[in-house]
Amino acid sequence: MNTFLRVFVLSAYVTLVLGVTAKEVTSPEFLSSIEKWWGPLGQEGKISEDIRPFKIQFTDEMVTDLRNRINNRREVTKPLEGIAFEYGFNSDNLDYWMDFWANKYNFTERENFLNQFPHYKTNIQGLDIHFIRVKPEVPEGTLVLPLLMMHGWPGSIREFYGSIPLITEYNEKRGFAVEVVVPSLPGFGFSDGTTRPGMGEVEIAAIMKNLMARLGFEKFYVQGGDFGALIANDMVTFYPDKILGYHTNFPISLAPGSLLTYLAGSLNPLFQSLVVDSSVADRMYPILDVVLGLVEESGYLHMQATKPDTIGIALSDSPMGLFAWLMQPLSGGTRKAYKTRVDGGLSLLYAPETLIDDVMMYWTENKFTTAVRVYAESINKRTLGMGISSIPTTVPTCTIHAKDEIIYESPIMLKYKFKNLLRSTVLDSQGHFLAMEAPEVFSEDVLSALDLFLEYNEENNKVEESNSKFPIKLPTLPIVDSLEKGVDKIKGGISQLFGR
Ligand SMILES: *[C@@H]1O[C@H](CO)[C@@H](O)[C@H](O)[C@H]1NC(C)=O
Repeated sequence: MNTFLRVFVLSAYVTLVLGVTAKEVTSPEFLSSIEKWWGPLGQEGKISEDIRPFKIQFTDEMVTDLRNRINNRREVTKPLEGIAFEYGFNSDNLDYWMDFWANKYNFTERENFLNQFPHYKTNIQGLDIHFIRVKPEVPEGTLVLPLLMMHGWPGSIREFYGSIPLITEYNEKRGFAVEVVVPSLPGFGFSDGTTRPGMGEVEIAAIMKNLMARLGFEKFYVQGGDFGALIANDMVTFYPDKILGYHTNFPISLAPGSLLTYLAGSLNPLFQSLVVDSSVADRMYPILDVVLGLVEESGYLHMQATKPDTIGIALSDSPMGLFAWLMQPLSGGTRKAYKTRVDGGLSLLYAPETLIDDVMMYWTENKFTTAVRVYAESINKRTLGMGISSIPTTVPTCTIHAKDEIIYESPIMLKYKFKNLLRSTVLDSQGHFLAMEAPEVFSEDVLSALDLFLEYNEENNKVEESNSKFPIKLPTLPIVDSLEKGVDKIKGGISQLFGR
């Protein structure tokens, strides 16, 4: 344990040192340097900036090829005796899924389902970016809040299908309505990937900001989970004047203060009680258990962050391989305990069509490789060296924490990054794919967060872009207690520990 603590202190120290260089990343020079041209060379300024309607299509040619590959698959190695998902996807269940995909999944019906919302494409910095845009039906004069919602991996826009109707449905009691923009991240689904290196979360943050500007939104709200949250973290750091509020179901701060606070909490029970509420302390401590758990479940991350193209070769050639690679972390991310089930618990919470819809977002246009390159382009010295995590943001933020989320950070840790953390909702169930697993819980939290953001921004004299004449005074919702006093105590404790 001592060695482990030393490694942890060293990491925190390195982050601190990196933090010294971090100021530059909010400079105008830096921010314009990340807005690169990612399209074909020589085409800059020559590609139309129109917003074109788009429909998802599963062509006969693609479906025939897919079925042939599924039907011609090799027999796979049996799992070890008594093993469920501990060694990865349990092959005993693959025949069921492959049969479902080839013979029961109705491609025409799913195409119609997926096209139930209006889809579009527009070219941003050389890449065709695909997105869903749903405007609410509202009486004239209603305040309409624009909300960008960003998925992650192994998810897709499919994660938000249950939530889009709930979030965009107009409820006059609320005093505002919501318009959502749900893009396929660059390289995912039906959005182009680039042909040149260097497009990571930082650069995608700029693309997403420019997508919203293209749609006429200079200021907007952001929601993100998984990689969508990492991108959103960068957006609220780079563009605090454009982002009116940030809701995330994957709240993560790697600010040096957050890490030191986390570490300090492991030193004695008093400190721990200051860092995290005892009801959720087991989500953070013992640190060693948490870290070993992360290591066990994140093999995909190392591969995708270092050699995305190698795994991409295999998975673009095999629907069975792609399915297993995507669905095993989906199982583990949904419930940690699902790895002890032979079926990975996949059918317990999701309809089989839902999961195949998601896999189709990677298979249809052969986008696995371009999608997972985002790991290699983000989790590297270049990007981490920017020290973005050590720059706090003033954007009002609300977080929601599912019980089986990959990482739990207490409000006190999050506040180093998110200075205006207005609320943290703690769930005693649910997992990493919250929008897909529990659309009602997710949507309700997003909507009440928007309420808080409006109230916060009104109090802070930010002028809303909309020309609303709504005189309704929004109700005050309970805000999680400010833990500032606790932070000060921890800071004092840390100063003593480190003699500073
Ligand atoms: C597939 O769905 C389409 C559209 O809903 C429907 O017309 C067709 O009958 C379905 N095919 C099968 C085999 O169920």
